[in-house]
Amino acid sequence: MRISVIGCGYLGAVHAASLAHLGHDVVGIDVDPEKVENLSAGRAPIFEPGLPDLLAEGLESTRLRFSTDIADAAGAHVHFIAVGTPQLAGSTGADMRFVDAAVASLIPHLRGGDLVVGKSTVPVGTAARLAPDIEAVGARLAWNPEFLREGYAVTDTIAPDRLVYGIADGDDIAVDELNEVYAAAIESDTPVIVTDYATAELVKVAANSFLATKISFINAMAEIAEVTGADVTKLADAIGYDKRIGRKFLNAGVGFGGGCLPKDIRAFTARAEELGRSDSVAFLKEVDAINLRRRERVVELVIERLGGSAFQKKVAVLGLAFKPNSDDVRDSPALDVAVRLHGLGANVVATDPEAIANSRRLHPQLTFGTVEEALAGADAVVVVTEWKQYRHLDPREVAAVVANPLVIDARNCLDAEAWADAGWEYVGLGRRPLS
Ligand code: UGA
Repeated sequence: MRISVIGCGYLGAVHAASLAHLGHDVVGIDVDPEKVENLSAGRAPIFEPGLPDLLAEGLESTRLRFSTDIADAAGAHVHFIAVGTPQLAGSTGADMRFVDAAVASLIPHLRGGDLVVGKSTVPVGTAARLAPDIEAVGARLAWNPEFLREGYAVTDTIAPDRLVYGIADGDDIAVDELNEVYAAAIESDTPVIVTDYATAELVKVAANSFLATKISFINAMAEIAEVTGADVTKLADAIGYDKRIGRKFLNAGVGFGGGCLPKDIRAFTARAEELGRSDSVAFLKEVDAINLRRRERVVELVIERLGGSAFQKKVAVLGLAFKPNSDDVRDSPALDVAVRLHGLGANVVATDPEAIANSRRLHPQLTFGTVEEALAGADAVVVVTEWKQYRHLDPREVAAVVANPLVIDARNCLDAEAWADAGWEYVGLGRRPLS
């Protein structure tokens, strides 16, 4: 099948490369010439396991190419819209300019019968707003939200948990066409939910809102555990055994970040307000507030444990990415903690296996270094992203290089007892300190 993917950021680059891997003939279009040049040379614009291999495979087979010219989308039959919908500056709503511009630039190149497929996360009602202009040139619109997780983007795209097709009334052909696009997943019995535009759009924000709520729920329990001497990690294990609850996404810590969960719950709240239903999702404001409080708590703990001030104390911040296996620092709690500690006069040395370049671009005032440089002579060690490299640090070896064996485990990812046994003052979130 001939396919175009408009927007080659996180979502689009992975989608284009994965579809080429599945045997389709794909052109990825992006307005950024540097991105297109890099992708055309097989260089992934982001750190994403598996993506470089797929790019190399697709480019070599010539099934995959990239272009800055939207006219190159002509000739494809299915056109995916995969541009970003970031948080609007000065507001909580989603910035729809990129989606609107992508659709407007594509329309003159559509042929009768073409299928435009929205993948971007959008406010409910967007597809219904865009459809008339697409239908006016004889093409059709479907909405097919994406559920990939960064770090697992390639496998999530090739073997998704489920597929959701939001289609116009009676457009059964769109279902067949999308089934052909995702033939490999369909053959392995991936569930397909065929529905209307609004439901498809809502499925995406509902899923992310639920995940964010689950994380903030356990972080709220961490707040209570901190004043009662309870242990939130044991609590999560215990409630997680209930199959109706499940243990996944119950890891208490510094909270969620990234380019999706924070902005999606805010955009959903803004959209519900527009729809006159702000009460229905009022809890999402609390989810956001709990999440942001956890970052403050980590900073508070560092200060408290350093005897009331972090001023001129050396703090090793381990982790900058919003989660491991990613170089993404958008709305990253880890980077936020580093910035706040620096702002309080601490001598922060921050490190991350992949996210230093992106962090430096946003916060050049911070000092970055290797993990060894960060740890040498540190008065406090803060683990804020649970990279495997940090989880597997040997507490005895680390104790030998720091000035003061104090570790704040902001992801509850270390073996608390092993660190305490090695002479550390161990402070987790929502658990009793150990020493
Ligand atoms: C999220 C969703 O999980 C995907 O399904 C969705 O497709 C994607 O957003 C999107 O909308 O594009 P992602 O942002 O890659 O994916 O990251 P997650 O794995 O969901 O993690 C989000 C944040 O929650 C991270 O900062 C992570 O550290 C944090 N988290 C996760 C916790 O604090 N505790 C947990 O138990 C789980």
